[in-house]
Amino acid sequence: MSRAYYVTTPIYYVNAEPHIGHAYTYCVADSLRRWHALHGEEAWLVTGTDEHGEKIAEAAGARGVAPKAFADEISGMFRAAWEEVGLGVDRFVRTTDPDHVRNVQAILQQVYDAGWIEKRDYEGLYCVGCERFLTERDLEDGKCRDHDRAPEPRSESNYFFLMSREFGWLRSLFEERPDFVRPERYRNEALAMLRDESGLGDLSISRPKSRLAWGIELPFDRDYVCYVWFDALISYLTGAGYPDDPRFAARWASAEHLIAKDILKPHAIFWPIMLKAIGLPPPHHVSVHGYWNVEGRKMSKSLGNVLSPLEMRDRYGFEAFRYAVLREMSFGLDADLRQAALVERINADLANNLGNLVSRTLNLVDKLCGGEVPEAEGAEDDDARTLGDARRAVQTRTRDAMEGLRPHDALAEIVAFASQVNRYLDAQAPWKAVKEPGGEPRARTALFHACQCIATLAALLAAFLPDTAASIAGRLGAPDLLRGTVFGADGFAVASVPPGARVTKGTPLFPRLEVAGG
Ligand code: MSP
Repeated sequence: MSRAYYVTTPIYYVNAEPHIGHAYTYCVADSLRRWHALHGEEAWLVTGTDEHGEKIAEAAGARGVAPKAFADEISGMFRAAWEEVGLGVDRFVRTTDPDHVRNVQAILQQVYDAGWIEKRDYEGLYCVGCERFLTERDLEDGKCRDHDRAPEPRSESNYFFLMSREFGWLRSLFEERPDFVRPERYRNEALAMLRDESGLGDLSISRPKSRLAWGIELPFDRDYVCYVWFDALISYLTGAGYPDDPRFAARWASAEHLIAKDILKPHAIFWPIMLKAIGLPPPHHVSVHGYWNVEGRKMSKSLGNVLSPLEMRDRYGFEAFRYAVLREMSFGLDADLRQAALVERINADLANNLGNLVSRTLNLVDKLCGGEVPEAEGAEDDDARTLGDARRAVQTRTRDAMEGLRPHDALAEIVAFASQVNRYLDAQAPWKAVKEPGGEPRARTALFHACQCIATLAALLAAFLPDTAASIAGRLGAPDLLRGTVFGADGFAVASVPPGARVTKGTPLFPRLEVAGG
């Protein structure tokens, strides 16, 4: 059976609608899923919605509807938005799904029976935004740093997950697996949390029903529901088919969680320890990206600058938007979404470079070769050799970038290669060569090489811009180029375009965009 690859996005709280921060993570996940599938692996992508907890109960209350009805509506909205922009999913987990609820309760019981959970009295400052008790370090001027609201003093008896006794074990996990959390800045951040244990301690995993009824009931005490993060993290197991799916173990061994930096603590600290308690290995990677700002400002409802993926699709076309965000954000660092920069990026890389390469090549094939991909004639010259080297190099570099989770570098490499093919065509100038005595074979050879390079570009782009890649393959007269396993075991694309394939010129792949208001 083929190798498994399992990738997740965070499951989204249903108290807000999908925005470009959510969409970015999903674009990375979808690209990784496709990338691995193109390499012949069984790729599995899970996303979903996080529907329990106080925050959701509050939001539903404000709208005067029951939490489940509210969750149904917003969860449906997430699902529809992803579908509409063409982001695929293998399992969409809602934390209210019966199989998930069963998993959470079975795990709670198992972990309780094994002595990992203890009841204690607790007093502290609780932030509803974070859905947890805060520590001194979380506060600024008496307010929660992340939510700019004062936490409430609370005292209650709760069940605690005995997490702190495993911090030594977790530290050694970070030593043994230096890229468990990546990029390195977030590994360092997680290690810093572990060093300063005052910010951690054991984890309260229950909420008394008297205060909050909207959650999964603890199987060993019906007066309590489960803390929303304990519930939410388990969605990654539910999504992979835990406990019964025969593919679960293979998927789990390759699990890659994509998250943004604000939810590092639950993923890098709580989750590996929870998994240890369950008797499962930690995920393969927790891969952490930064935050998107919009025109230099934090994206927020109150500023009214929250951008939705559907709006972006309407404005730019989703593939162009997807390209621009994957290219603009260095995975791990914050990025600023400026519409003018986005338009420039799309015009420069997609319209002028890639789109123009495809259109001029196919126009030349049409005009000079009767619309059929020509054959290479004569011995390979230096220019063709250099181009061949570049064609191999771009594949190796793209693969390295994907393995290191640097999609921005992968795309930069691919686009740089398109520039190189453009320069090759400029130098060969087949439109001039045909007019020179004996120049026809040279012109045909140049176009043969250009077509092969475009086929490689289609293969490399297929994970990132699937519709564009399919359109390029179709125009090249080689629709099979992207079917099945596209990259061989050596990591190189196996496909090429056979001479004689009939090309179609078509309309521009990416029309040039006008700068808004310009
Ligand atoms: N429900 C939890 C995740 C549970 S995962 C087991 C949650 N949900 S969320 O809807 O609030 O956020 C989902 C993700 O979107 C988080 O990783 C969050 O950091 C990310 N983003 C929210 N705003 C963002 C930006 N402006 N930019 C990039 N990502 C952002 O947290």
